[in-house]
Amino acid sequence: MVISSPYEPGRDPLSPNRNLSPITTEIDEHSRLSVGGCLLSELAERYDTPLYVLDEASLRAACQAYREALQRHYPGRSQPVYASKANSSLMMSSLVASEGFGLDAVSAGELLTALQGGVANDQIVFHGNNKSDQELLLAYDNGVTIVIDNQHDLDRLAELVPDEAEPARLMLRFTPGIECHTHEYIRTGHLDSKFGFDPDQLEPVLQSLLGCKWARLTGIHAHIGSQIFELEPHRDLAEVMADVLQLARGLGHPVEDLNVGGGLGIRYVDSDDPPSIEDWVRVVAEAVAKACRSRNLDLPRLMCEPGRSLVASAGVTLYRLGSRKVIPGLRTYLSVDGGMSDNPRSITYQSLYNACLADRPLDPVEETITLAGKHCESGDVLIKDLALPKASSGEVLVVFATGAYNASMSSNYNRIPRPAAVLVRDGQADLVQRREQPEDLLRYDVLPERFMAVG
Ligand SMILES: Cc1ncc(COP(=O)(O)O)c(C=O)c1O
Repeated sequence: MVISSPYEPGRDPLSPNRNLSPITTEIDEHSRLSVGGCLLSELAERYDTPLYVLDEASLRAACQAYREALQRHYPGRSQPVYASKANSSLMMSSLVASEGFGLDAVSAGELLTALQGGVANDQIVFHGNNKSDQELLLAYDNGVTIVIDNQHDLDRLAELVPDEAEPARLMLRFTPGIECHTHEYIRTGHLDSKFGFDPDQLEPVLQSLLGCKWARLTGIHAHIGSQIFELEPHRDLAEVMADVLQLARGLGHPVEDLNVGGGLGIRYVDSDDPPSIEDWVRVVAEAVAKACRSRNLDLPRLMCEPGRSLVASAGVTLYRLGSRKVIPGLRTYLSVDGGMSDNPRSITYQSLYNACLADRPLDPVEETITLAGKHCESGDVLIKDLALPKASSGEVLVVFATGAYNASMSSNYNRIPRPAAVLVRDGQADLVQRREQPEDLLRYDVLPERFMAVG
């Protein structure tokens, strides 16, 4: 079988992983990979596997890229907000707060993680298409901006906010009629989405809010999808949002904030070609400014909610290789000690990833394998065709670009404990998430007493 080697002589030795990996990825004199100055195989030894590794320099560089691009292209009137669904932890909350970011939370859990991680309450936006009363109260009591997604939110808040109390600060989410779930996008009048008000409902909702003493509408919000490589949909979004801004202000709402959501894609495999953060921000900022000026609207504060593009490339996952199954003429399965429970994106979205051996990234490719997880599910495959040197059981494998929607979407399927996570920087590794133990998974089980009766 002819296998095309990703490690052709004369190429950048880290290619094709250079563009996929954290910015501090290096190869030492023994040809072993390190991130943040920490040898990956040593991290695997010290913290066990599977292990999420996050590179602090990459995280901060991405935050800085957003911040500086916003200052450059939309001076003085912007607020980036981290979509914490991508990767939520006390460390992430604290890190983004220290970088001047707000945070978008969608549950009591994410909200508490943000507040305890030190994100200022007035820098948090609270989303969700089915918020509970407890969640709404937690957000309101902490002075967090609540994104109104539907009439239910309005009805519940009208009851929950006490008379004569400080009004709730609200943002209104609507469905912009721009669908962008693949690398193609379409514009339609109405969209089949569970999120946000239909555009036709906006005027009556805005009218009804005028009479609500308990509510202060400060912003409008829309989000068009995730892992988007095109810039054109964001130009269209600016036009649609400016129409809504005009409508709301025209009715007398003091709307200051225009929140365009997140969505910028990242490179998972070499063939992915997303725009840079700089280009994305420039296009969004110019489009919003143009759309507002053409309607004679004072420029709103521009908010955006990046998730994936902040954390995905900063993360790698380390696994140990285990069993090998060779089906002659068909396929070779190499299994790792994790899989769909720590990275559900492959089985859920057929997402592509790249990987290499931690201590032999430059060794010539000798075979193409299928990288399988250890779960009781045939579809538990992390990478379908992965070109590798002949790898042995016990070697550490690095999967790139796993910082977003891996830990945060992880599960305990097959009662497999969640991995630990470490943050690396300048040769130092700090534990930011302890490894779950099998006993932890029993903590919430309750055996009814009658099952314990002897007899
Ligand atoms: C409302 C909202 N904002 C922001 C994001 C973050 O998107 P991304 O991670 O693609 O930047 C999402 C993702 O689903 C979202 O639903």
